[in-house]
Amino acid sequence: MIKAIMARMPAILAVLVLFAFAAPELSAQQINPTASAVQEEQLMRALQSGEAVSGRVTIVDPRAADLIKPGNKNWAADHGGMVKTINIVAILGILAVLVAFYLIRGKIRIEGGFSGRTIQRFNAIERFGHWLLAATFIVLALTGLNLLFGRALILPLVGEGAFGTISAWGKIAHNYLAWPFMLALVIVFVAWVIHNLPSRTDVEWIKQGGGLFKKGVHPPAKKFNAGQKAIFWSVIIGGVALSWTGVMLLFPEWAGSSSDWQFYQVIHAIVAGVLTAIIIAHIYIGSVGMEGAFDAMGTGQVDENWAREHHSLWVEEVKARENAAPGGAAQPAE
Ligand code: HEM
Repeated sequence: MIKAIMARMPAILAVLVLFAFAAPELSAQQINPTASAVQEEQLMRALQSGEAVSGRVTIVDPRAADLIKPGNKNWAADHGGMVKTINIVAILGILAVLVAFYLIRGKIRIEGGFSGRTIQRFNAIERFGHWLLAATFIVLALTGLNLLFGRALILPLVGEGAFGTISAWGKIAHNYLAWPFMLALVIVFVAWVIHNLPSRTDVEWIKQGGGLFKKGVHPPAKKFNAGQKAIFWSVIIGGVALSWTGVMLLFPEWAGSSSDWQFYQVIHAIVAGVLTAIIIAHIYIGSVGMEGAFDAMGTGQVDENWAREHHSLWVEEVKARENAAPGGAAQPAE
């Protein structure tokens, strides 16, 4: 019997050694039920430091691996806080200024009355560019504002079903109208940049407040006055910023990291709000705020008295060109 045990001793020892190593492993698992707590601690640390908690993915976009990204909270706060506040202050602020301006100054009339003679102010290409820009911008602004404020303002009015439909179509309109907007921006830039370079007459125009605040004051101006130049450059610079950030939002793979994408989103929404406020002022002065102004973009023809009161140097240029033309025939204004 002892002999038999001795003969099997190596095998018995081997089994005991195996148990000696295996047992602690087993008991560690048993007495360490906190393996998930360790992971949780890592998770809490990651949440505090703002880095992403990531898994592993086999698809091309590695950002899809981010399970939790505490940095997103900053973006969500900006989106809900700062961005909305800037939009509200800019838009309600300009509306308040315009109402006050209308109540104090009233509609800006042609002081000499309509002369009955007209001058061509904008040709068909200029008007096409302007109205393409205007139509696309207005839809982009409304559908963009719906993303920021629709849930608070429109949803309670129309209900969930209608709001869902409006927002879904709004998103499609926003994504697709961005392209004709960019085209219009190019047309308007090419057509008008030459008339919007700063000149010495701008200083005098600004000193006299553009004649906007006092009757009988008409500072000289060429085709565009300093106020219009400010609108033009706001539209061009703001429009390029909106286009650039908008394309990054449409194609996140070009934007870089997800926080870069969020940065573009914040810039996009802020520039949009400020430009919308500027354009509200422009629409007011180009329509109900100033007698005779709308015709410039409507028919392309403006009354001569309107032109003399608001763009006296431009009228002189047009008249000089007409007189220089063979037979003194009227030439379209540039
Ligand atoms: C219903 C909306 C709009 C109306 C009634 C309107 C009206 C006008 C008028 C009458 C002019 C010519 C002013 C002149 O003869 O000197 C003008 C020019 C211009 N418009 Fe508009 N516009 C509208 C919307 C827009 C929008 C949405 C944009 C851009 C996003 C825009 C950009 C411009 C620019 C850059 C000019 C040339 C600079 C200036 O006159 O201020 N417009 N607009």
